[in-house]
Amino acid sequence: MSTPRLAVVCDSDDDRQHLAQVAAELGLPLLESTDALAADLLLRLDQGRLALVQGGPAAPGPVSVDFGGGRMRQRRRGGHNELLGKALGVGRKSPLRVLDATAGLGRDSFVLADLGCEVLLCERQPVVAALLGSALAQARGSDDDWLCATAQRMQLAPGDARQLPASSLAGIDVIYLDPMFPHRGKSAAVKKDMALFQRLIGIPEDETDSEALLQWALAQPVARVAVKRPLKAPPLAGGKPSHQIRGKAVRFDVHVLAALGANG
Ligand SMILES: C[S@@+](CC[C@H](N)C(=O)[O-])C[C@H]1O[C@@H](n2cnc3c(N)ncnc32)[C@H](O)[C@@H]1O
Repeated sequence: MSTPRLAVVCDSDDDRQHLAQVAAELGLPLLESTDALAADLLLRLDQGRLALVQGGPAAPGPVSVDFGGGRMRQRRRGGHNELLGKALGVGRKSPLRVLDATAGLGRDSFVLADLGCEVLLCERQPVVAALLGSALAQARGSDDDWLCATAQRMQLAPGDARQLPASSLAGIDVIYLDPMFPHRGKSAAVKKDMALFQRLIGIPEDETDSEALLQWALAQPVARVAVKRPLKAPPLAGGKPSHQIRGKAVRFDVHVLAALGANG
């Protein structure tokens, strides 16, 4: 897959200064809306936050991180949260401090923050990190108390998790990993946001990178490492999980390294 041509596009003079700064930070060209066809993927402001849009006339609608949106609110009620919380040890220590070393679009991080965790979100893809940063700023400025308080428990650290300074890792209880999985099954239909996301970050050919990340995580001074895996995939090579928590479509491989808080 060829690397998509990316640009920031400015639709309104009111947003020019902000978007020029985003473009400069990401090292991307800033285009006028009339020139938008010159790029395969565009970053533009949509409802006050950065959104990723596919270039071209029949492109699907924008994809952004919307922590206050219906999907995130719906997910609060989903059983997945319970499994994720259980895998990470939510309830065993308060507050539980989590490093989400593969933050992506921040959905799992937001669920964890909603469960009361303090979450450090690490994302190495600069455009994805910019989407996250924009959504977090919007959520923190929201007049919805729940949304604002949840976002306050989330902190973004753009860059590769393995480059985090020791000071950022001090006090972290759990490292959570949800690396990209190389293959999708036969059902190739991927949701719109995931399809654009995959175009941006690429689907890895194998799991070498994810295995190295697990190795790194297991060597950190934390009580546990939890890895999200497709239900039928083998555990990531490099460490045998202590136990597994299985859902309908995904599984969490839990590596217990030490007791978590008073309840162990
Ligand atoms: C499958 S997505 C995670 C989705 C996320 N759990 C969510 O709920 O939206 C994996 C993400 O991890 C990021 N990533 C992979 N390795 C990383 C690393 N070593 N440091 C930081 N980010 C990493 C990728 O850029 C990608 O955005």
